[in-house]
Amino acid sequence: MHGTPKLRSLRGRRVLITSGPTREDLDPVRTLTNRSTGAMGIELARAFRDVGAQVQLVLGGDLPAPWGVETLRVRSAQQMLEACEARWADSDGLVAAAAVADQRPEALAPEKVKKGDGPETLVLVRTPDILARLSAARRADQWVLGFAAESEKHLEQAAAKLVKKGLDAVLVNDVQDGRAFGAQANTLTPVTAQGPHPPLGPLAKDQLARAVVQWWAHRLEARES
Ligand code: CTP
Ligand code: CA
Repeated sequence: MHGTPKLRSLRGRRVLITSGPTREDLDPVRTLTNRSTGAMGIELARAFRDVGAQVQLVLGGDLPAPWGVETLRVRSAQQMLEACEARWADSDGLVAAAAVADQRPEALAPEKVKKGDGPETLVLVRTPDILARLSAARRADQWVLGFAAESEKHLEQAAAKLVKKGLDAVLVNDVQDGRAFGAQANTLTPVTAQGPHPPLGPLAKDQLARAVVQWWAHRLEARES
């Protein structure tokens, strides 16, 4: 018999979510960032909230914080890491939706750099991998979801990230033709140790976030029963 599928609850679960771009400053007026807005992470925060989870959102970028979600605003990758580390022990799971800048300028100039001042090349250093660090520090009862946007071999790359960062699932977006960033409808394919799952979407970001939450709640339920 077919009917409306049962809506799964995550009542009382504590979920830590990273979202948005990070910003890495060069001087008081210049910054390195990316085109992520944080919209998907905000929709995920809402979707987890709506099934009863206690959400803590660590948010970069300019979008307003969602109602009913404890939100901490951060700027750099280092700040995002510190905010997450302070909250990780009290969380049941992590959803890493942030578009973290992989590099930052080696030096932060205290004053605005003038045209004639410096070398013409920018020296960059790696930022911390927040997802990898939290995953490495996790307890057996904690779960970790990552995201990936890939322009080629998206399933293989997602599988590689799953193993490398020790994740429960990677939700991968195929960005070949400019979808994902600001697009109306998106598709995410969950990849777990069992391989790729049927894609979620194409759906608008709010609906897609609900689909991700239901997919994961279903897996958690199966895992815990
Ligand atoms: N991530 C993170 N901290 C970083 C970089 C990435 O927490 N410094 C998280 C993202 O939030 C995402 C996942 O790791 O959930 C994958 O991000 P992605 O940029 O696809 O992977 P990278 O490991 O940075 O590899 P690359 O950019 O080279 O593909
Ligand atoms: Ca990256």
